[in-house]
Amino acid sequence: MEEIRAAALAALAGADSDAVLDEWRVTYLGRKSDLTNVLRSISSLPDEDRKTVGASANQLRGALEEAFDEKTQALRAGPGAIADALDVTLPGRRRSGGALHPTTQTIREITNAFGAMGFQIAEGPEVEWEKYNFDALNIPADHPARDQWDTFWLQEPGSEERSDMLLRTHTSPMQARIMEKTDPPVRVVIPGRCFRYEATDATHEWHFFQIEGLAVDKGITFADMKGTLFEFARRLFGPDRKVRFRVDFFPFVEPGAEMAIDCFKCNGKGCSLCKGTGWIEIMGAGMVHPSVLRNVGYDPEVYSGFAFGMGVERIAMLRHGIDDVRQFAAGDLRFLSQF
Ligand code: DAH
Repeated sequence: MEEIRAAALAALAGADSDAVLDEWRVTYLGRKSDLTNVLRSISSLPDEDRKTVGASANQLRGALEEAFDEKTQALRAGPGAIADALDVTLPGRRRSGGALHPTTQTIREITNAFGAMGFQIAEGPEVEWEKYNFDALNIPADHPARDQWDTFWLQEPGSEERSDMLLRTHTSPMQARIMEKTDPPVRVVIPGRCFRYEATDATHEWHFFQIEGLAVDKGITFADMKGTLFEFARRLFGPDRKVRFRVDFFPFVEPGAEMAIDCFKCNGKGCSLCKGTGWIEIMGAGMVHPSVLRNVGYDPEVYSGFAFGMGVERIAMLRHGIDDVRQFAAGDLRFLSQF
């Protein structure tokens, strides 16, 4: 064993690379090494020798393993070793990290802006009852406003008739769902996917995301709505933004409004982004219609509120200068990896 120790340590001292170290380990500690043979033969030794031979063979193995570890570390730490292992002139390897989809990023930015103002976040079903998508929102079956929301109706298998379920055409049905389940006050924003039965082009998709907002309490006024939406526009589009409200019609609000911000690209002077008008429309809004409140069991004499709805892709397109809404669902990494 002393011979083995001497030979092994001498060979180890001369080792100058990982390859030589590997070879050394096989020769002196491997399955066919002299030391392993000694260890294997212990059981066949006479009783009186077994203990001493076993102890010193194990001691030798421990010593060689330790010497091996030390040498390995010394070699790795040495100046020559570092130069071998790491060529600092090589170009780095690019790591392909993932990122959130631009639609998701935009939803988070918008909901965070409202979250900071005390709004909660809720989500609802993409397959919706006719009752919530239309009736509860003051859009009865014969109302001309239903034409605005060309709809994917669901059908029972084997039936020719459409059912009373549909792919929701907007996130507004969640207004009724939430008010039905909650007593006022309510302050909530609802992001979600919507569907419309229409041909696609650069500005139309048959599915897209909206963010709905709703605030109902005693004494809420149009001024509260303007203040809240103005603050939102400043948070999302910068502190210098101006907002403009113009009258618009939606059956579930009265009065109804369309909100625009002064163009953040040209600051209202007129450019290609705002089509020369200086203003960019970003959402529909208004004071919740008394019938909508009544439909969910809120007393419109006691409670009032405002609601708003905006298209997520449209806001992302404005902010990032994207000119085709179809990019969002195309799954093209050349587009997606820019965000
Ligand atoms: N749901 C409307 C749409 O899809 C957007 C909208 C307008 C939502 C006015 C509202 C609102 O809550 O008050 O076009």
